[in-house]
Amino acid sequence: MSAFRIVVLASGSGTNLQAILDGLHGQGLVEVVGVGSDKPAAGALERGRRAGVETAVFAAASFEDRGARDRAMGDWIESLETDLVVLAGYMQLLSAAFVARFRNRVVNIHPALLPAFPGLDAIGQALAAGVQTTGVTVHFVDEGVDTGPVIAQREVAVPPGVAREELEEAVHAVEHELYSEAIRMIAEGRVRIDPGDPRRVAVDD
Ligand code: GRF
Repeated sequence: MSAFRIVVLASGSGTNLQAILDGLHGQGLVEVVGVGSDKPAAGALERGRRAGVETAVFAAASFEDRGARDRAMGDWIESLETDLVVLAGYMQLLSAAFVARFRNRVVNIHPALLPAFPGLDAIGQALAAGVQTTGVTVHFVDEGVDTGPVIAQREVAVPPGVAREELEEAVHAVEHELYSEAIRMIAEGRVRIDPGDPRRVAVDD
């Protein structure tokens, strides 16, 4: 069977990308075929290059608008015969046209238990709210911000008085496990959106 082909989009250091490269890539089931970024200096691009993966930069300044940028990025993604687009700290909003073009083929990871604490600084939001439990969500991407159907969630405890860095570390450790697990389930064909209730994702054993 040929490998399930994923493109990872990332704006930052790319530790989630690294976890995917280390835990999934090139072992038969999943192949990272491209790493894309809006930031030419993103650490994620370097991690991709080091793994011998094709990389590309789609900087906002190089395009007339977001639609044009997303069309070019979409063409690149399609040229790689991509099965799934994996957002891993990609800090740009995707155009509705891009979401429609890759409907149910784009996933994101968010450092909170959605629908709690969507958007920026989810860990800071959880600390400010004083919750005892936060976590990590992997979800399909729709037109909203962190609103798409949930594929997998895992809790992270927030001990009283925990330092922000310590909580960040705990959340990131869970992210690195959960993203690879979720991508593996998708690659194995076990993840379906319920046709009767498109908000709901069913996972086969
Ligand atoms: C992660 O916390 C992820 O949940 C969020 O962006 C961060 C990316 O971190 N969407 P990294 O670049 O993978 O280290």
